[in-house]
Amino acid sequence: MKARQISKNVHWIGAIDWDRRLFDALIPLPDGTSYNSYLVHGSQKVALIDTVDPSMLHVLTAHLENVPAIDYVIVNHAEQDHAGSIPQVLEKYPDAKVVTTAKGRDLLMALLLIPEGRFITVNDGDTLSLGDKTLEFIHAPWVHWPETMLTYLREDKILFPCDLFGSHLATTDLCVADEGQVYEAAKRYFAEIMMPFRTSIEKHLEKLNGYKIDIIAPSHGPLYNKPSFIIEAYRSWVSDPPKNIVVLPYISMHGSTQKMVEHFVDALVDKGVTVKQFNLAVTDIGKLAMALVDAATMVIGTPTVLIGPHPNIAHAAFLANALRPRLQFISVIGSYGWGSKAVEQLTGMIPNLKAEVLIPVLSKGFPTEEVFKALDNLASTIAKKHKEQGLT
Ligand code: FEO
Repeated sequence: MKARQISKNVHWIGAIDWDRRLFDALIPLPDGTSYNSYLVHGSQKVALIDTVDPSMLHVLTAHLENVPAIDYVIVNHAEQDHAGSIPQVLEKYPDAKVVTTAKGRDLLMALLLIPEGRFITVNDGDTLSLGDKTLEFIHAPWVHWPETMLTYLREDKILFPCDLFGSHLATTDLCVADEGQVYEAAKRYFAEIMMPFRTSIEKHLEKLNGYKIDIIAPSHGPLYNKPSFIIEAYRSWVSDPPKNIVVLPYISMHGSTQKMVEHFVDALVDKGVTVKQFNLAVTDIGKLAMALVDAATMVIGTPTVLIGPHPNIAHAAFLANALRPRLQFISVIGSYGWGSKAVEQLTGMIPNLKAEVLIPVLSKGFPTEEVFKALDNLASTIAKKHKEQGLT
């Protein structure tokens, strides 16, 4: 795709990756992604803001074909989907300096072997004049690495936040056209990447209140020409209380856990609780992550495999622990044949989740009336606890 103008002398020169289906060999990308790079021409200097994933270097190279000089390469974040093409850019522009935080410099020296002499490090609030345009650097650690910063173009009121506010979405729309589609993609991105850093993000949102922002230009997905759309969404994801929702990731091998899940879901729904169930044999793990953004409770359904939980369930528990959703209650349901340590092993895998563990329900073999009653009790307890907390 050709360069696209955002405002006078400010252009998008990124790459759209329609075909990528997995990020970090972990995160599903059902809608592809983009790596947004931006070129800012001041009256005296030229800055490139972030680069592209090395797999798309040829696209960036084509964008830069008729750009004779770049003075500064602004690096908001050192992860390689944005920084990985910097060495080739520096080779093409031998006088260009890399502008980043001190931590960004250290990471780039380690990850990309960029020599120390190529860097200018900036503190929070520092500015860089391009002549008639001024870049201001806003330190914003932990979105989602420790070195991250945001860049604000004062005269044009454009914020370049790199990963923050981004969405994995390949689209020809320069700016958001379909809010529903972008909301979904941005929420998935938040769930998979940003959720563990809610406290930091809350502070950064507070800080951004002091800036007049006309456009947010992230480094993945379309730009926001109505910034309140994504800022308000982030505010809700980081600050709102959880909702009256149970997330139920499960696996069944021979039908016993499946039968328990079906009964339990009906019991919860009867008591006015919304359930989002995910059969991990077929589910997109990103959907589970998104559901965890809002849920107050997670109940894990697992059969017993070699005395412990099913390995796919262990994977989901490990992921939930890493994502640190704001769950308040957790429990386990499932089945076993001759013995099980599934509950002990699973609860030992989620130390980051500061949630109350509710009495689990395990069935020896196919569930009996007694097991169904225990599931009814667990559903009642969850509904009562949600009500006590005023969750809606
Ligand atoms: Fe889009 Fe953290 O890289």
